[in-house]
Amino acid sequence: MSYLVIEGLHKKYGQSTVLSNINMEIEKGEFITLLGPSGCGKSTILRIVAGLTDASAGKIAIEGKDMYGVQPKDRQVGMVFQSYALFPNMTVQENVAFGLRMQKVHSVDLEQRVQEMLALVHLSEKAHAYPKELSGGQQQRVALARALIVRPKVLLLDEPLSALDAQIRKKLQTDLRAIQRKLSMTMILVTHDQEEAMAVSDRIFVMNNGSIAQSGTPTEIYTRPENEFIANFIGHYNVFTRQDLEQMLGEPLSEQYSKFAIRPEALHFDKKNNDMCLTGKAKQSLMSGNIIRTTFEGETLFTMEQLHQQGYTIEMGKTYKCYVAKEDVIALS
Ligand SMILES: Nc1ncnc2c1ncn2[C@@H]1O[C@H](COP(=O)(O)OP(=O)(O)O)[C@@H](O)[C@H]1O
Ligand SMILES: [Mg+2]
Repeated sequence: MSYLVIEGLHKKYGQSTVLSNINMEIEKGEFITLLGPSGCGKSTILRIVAGLTDASAGKIAIEGKDMYGVQPKDRQVGMVFQSYALFPNMTVQENVAFGLRMQKVHSVDLEQRVQEMLALVHLSEKAHAYPKELSGGQQQRVALARALIVRPKVLLLDEPLSALDAQIRKKLQTDLRAIQRKLSMTMILVTHDQEEAMAVSDRIFVMNNGSIAQSGTPTEIYTRPENEFIANFIGHYNVFTRQDLEQMLGEPLSEQYSKFAIRPEALHFDKKNNDMCLTGKAKQSLMSGNIIRTTFEGETLFTMEQLHQQGYTIEMGKTYKCYVAKEDVIALS
């Protein structure tokens, strides 16, 4: 049996269904991400796992033990939120030590564990500072240390990085992943940011409207979207109706499917064997870092992405042939 099992979870608030039939099996030491738009039920899952909200139906088990009726404080589940919720009148060190004091851990042992934890989150030098003297990123590191020090079985992180600016967020993503690996901690991160999910996770559960739309490794989710929601939510896929795509390609596609997706970077100007061809007039080019994203107009609009150093100059208004390998035309269910 998996380390954390979520089985047939349903949640209703009054008449409205917020979660329907959520099933997840998570192994010890896995980094799992719940990814989805705002309001799709991500936080509700975390709250049910932590015991802060009751499910309407379904089961949570940790290490084979049914959590039904187990109080939040007895579940050994830690939580970190977007708002750091530190104790303002305690130093960094005192904040981090808090959970161990509650457990009446011996002072020698306590001191050592606090020092180790501060080193792990790169805050040893800030041990005696107060939260208000720290940046947002540093405060979130304290919150993380405070949650980790009591060695929870599962750590739940609800959009912990969403309030931070892009550069700090990237740095903390890397650190969070390194810490998780070092401790082999089982973590569930909630985010609405697909890049963040791709960057840190072993597996991603993409949610839509209270259900799991697809789960898999970042590569599986990115390269094999199963439906239109995933294709649109992850990585700016071009989504076509079968009729439009058949018109543009000039050849028939499987009648079993009504929608198809093509990744913008799967399109290219140099024809390779067996490539299919989309023809379109260049409408607009935008540069985003190292990537040039061009919109073409054929039967419908579609987008192509190229690396800047590929060095093509695309003339607006001119018609181009954009090629794609057959296996990069993905049928959606
Ligand atoms: N206590 C509550 N009472 C009624 N509706 C709620 C409550 N908590 C959350 N909801 C609703 O449940 C849905 C899912 O919320 P939530 O899990 O917070 O979404 P997410 O974290 O994905 O943004 C939302 O439509 C929200 O309005
Ligand atoms: Mg939420």
